[in-house]
Amino acid sequence: MKVNRRHFLKLGGITGAGIIGSNILPSCKPGAEKETLSNLNNIKEQALIKRRQKFNMCGFTAPKMDVVRTAHIGLGRGSGHVNSVSLLEGVEIKGLCDLIPEEVDKTMKRIEGTGFKPDIYTGDPEAWKKMCDRDDIDLVYIATPWNMHAEMAVYAMEHGKHVCIEVPAAVSMEECWQLVEVSESTRKHCMMLENCCYDFFELLTLNMARQGFFGEIVHGEGAYIHTLLDLNFNKTGYWNMWRLRENSGRQGNLYPTHGLGPICQIMDINRGDKMEYLTAVMSKDFQMNDTAKKLASSDEFYKEFVDMPYRGNMTTCSVVTNKGRTIMIQHDVTSPNVYSGFIRLVALSELL
Ligand SMILES: NC(=O)c1ccc[n+]([C@@H]2O[C@H](COP(=O)([O-])OP(=O)(O)OC[C@H]3O[C@@H](n4cnc5c(N)ncnc54)[C@H](O)[C@@H]3O)[C@@H](O)[C@H]2O)c1
Repeated sequence: MKVNRRHFLKLGGITGAGIIGSNILPSCKPGAEKETLSNLNNIKEQALIKRRQKFNMCGFTAPKMDVVRTAHIGLGRGSGHVNSVSLLEGVEIKGLCDLIPEEVDKTMKRIEGTGFKPDIYTGDPEAWKKMCDRDDIDLVYIATPWNMHAEMAVYAMEHGKHVCIEVPAAVSMEECWQLVEVSESTRKHCMMLENCCYDFFELLTLNMARQGFFGEIVHGEGAYIHTLLDLNFNKTGYWNMWRLRENSGRQGNLYPTHGLGPICQIMDINRGDKMEYLTAVMSKDFQMNDTAKKLASSDEFYKEFVDMPYRGNMTTCSVVTNKGRTIMIQHDVTSPNVYSGFIRLVALSELL
């Protein structure tokens, strides 16, 4: 099926990037309204830019390889990817890169005994480029902080590598388009590692939906509700507090794809249906600034995080598709809650 450029939302962009609902109602911060308006204008401007498809990567198959030679950038979550890859047949792990040497050491330990002897790139924020410059690597895994994903992926594709990028793949509309356009022009796969699409429950639901078990799908709901307040403020939680900084810079749903991905598969988004419109609302921040203030009262380290424009606790986005179906996606990584990436489908079943 031909994928059309207009398969992108008219307001707000979803290509797996964490930017749903940048046009949300502002929360309580002075200046937040101005910031939201400028985000909205930016999204409108981006949406109006006409893009020309260079090649249709939908269904594209790269030439067969007997051995897939991998390289890995970012070894927090990425260390698990290295471990998983080391268990596969037909792969060779050629390079490991992390800014912090200890992270590389830990990962090397994990794959001891597997026979893989990857070269190491560390201690320099640009070391990953040297690894991508090599011509004996086929696939680069990227599991670094969000604001580095697009730059690393574009560089790797332009240097002849397929890429897998952790979620979210990009942090702005412009970065989403860069990924699409560079993938099309280089004919390199650009895969977002949205693991929730492949969990057993989601695959079971997808299979049942495709076999018509539920009837016609009318509405889908998904979420990323995960209490990360402690981890975000933990000095050793994420490298250089990157995730806290992300939550204090941008507004809206920063992490939409765990909930959205499986629903898009079930609804054939970009393969028969497409998203048309989005509206979003966000609660005020009830906890993050209070937590920053509390911690800063006894620890200088947290002073820079006081009075940042924190994203609100709960964001709720509603999307309308071209076929008139609706999707609701929620995001809350602050409120005390049990983890939920819940999926709910509303369907018209002939059985009823
Ligand atoms: N799919 C999932 O379920 C899931 C779960 C956890 C994390 N993630 C994603 O994985 C990514 C990484 O998150 P994390 O939890 O591992 O964070 P992390 O902070 O634990 O790890 C990031 C790593 O990147 C390294 N790094 C920073 N700058 C670098 C540079 N210039 N060059 C090389 N390495 C650099 C850091 O040293 C650190 O080891 C994020 O996109 C996150 O959203 C996804």
